[in-house]
Amino acid sequence: MAKVAVLAGDGIGPEIMAEALKLLDKLGLDFQYAEADVGGAGIDNKGKALPEETVKVCKDSDAILFGAVGGPKWEKLPPEEQPERGALLPLRKMFDLYANLRPARIFPPLASASTLRPDIIEGGLDVLIVRELTSGIYFGDPKGIEEDQGYDMMRYRRGEIERIARVAFESALKRDKKVTSVDKANVLSTMVFWRRVVEDVHREYPKVELEHMYVDNASMQLVRNPRQFDVILAGNMFGDILSDEASMLTGSIGMLPSASLGDGGFGLYEPVHGSAPDIAGKGVANPLAQILSASMMLKYSFNLVEESERIESAVLKVLEDGYRTGDIMGVGCEQVNCSEMGDLVAERL
Ligand code: IPM
Ligand code: MN
Repeated sequence: MAKVAVLAGDGIGPEIMAEALKLLDKLGLDFQYAEADVGGAGIDNKGKALPEETVKVCKDSDAILFGAVGGPKWEKLPPEEQPERGALLPLRKMFDLYANLRPARIFPPLASASTLRPDIIEGGLDVLIVRELTSGIYFGDPKGIEEDQGYDMMRYRRGEIERIARVAFESALKRDKKVTSVDKANVLSTMVFWRRVVEDVHREYPKVELEHMYVDNASMQLVRNPRQFDVILAGNMFGDILSDEASMLTGSIGMLPSASLGDGGFGLYEPVHGSAPDIAGKGVANPLAQILSASMMLKYSFNLVEESERIESAVLKVLEDGYRTGDIMGVGCEQVNCSEMGDLVAERL
């Protein structure tokens, strides 16, 4: 039986996770779920952001469904003990989940929720950000804070660039066959090297078009003409920043799922958004990114492509039927809360 570790975390995490589980239940999958504390919940209940029991639950599982972590309550802790650095980053590293897939797609009924002019996104928008997730400046050694300086090392090794570049080219082969590799090769040596290695890997993929773009230009191009992009390949930090930007093009960061994958079928699936402490506990959060993350899990870790697509179609249908949570509310739509949204999607499965 397939095993899923359920790490709901903090803030709106538990609320949106409940809706994702509701849908998985409805699909009648033969899955076994194991819940465990993570982030602030780990700190409060077990004394640390990533308790040993939680690691064990994850190691015994085939995939991790992750909610969100962090909040003001834990912000005064030393950085490495905080929910984000103490739980999420070690989890990614521990399972070598180097490939972070962040699809930014416009659901046509939500086009008016985008901050971009209708003519810019007309005809849809479908960008896949492939972000390197376990190296770069996030994990570089040394890093530190001293009395009068702070520093983080940015380093990429050849193998680390090669494997994420392959994920980008392979993804592009199944899509519009274009990869835009984002770097800052006009300033950073790491990025000169990045560009060189991406070009080397590209020789294995003659069918895919490759272009290079500086990150500052890419961030501008994303709002100027997002439809020029198919797959965006980026290092850890640039991918982090660009994926928040891309999410807003689609209307709300509350819509974006992600998959963090390693070389086997194991993966961690989480919404791109955070724990939104300001609205936590009110039942108004948008559960769709969490629900769509569960859909990605079915596809990437369990090869349940049909079930995964059923979830996506049900989400689309609910939006077409005019139901919205507050973050994506539009004229003439009906506003619903978090659990109503889950019910509506479940009804349409
Ligand atoms: C994300 C988040 C994380 C990141 C934080 C919470 C550590 O912003 O998943 O995009 O920077 O990777
Ligand atoms: Mn981020």
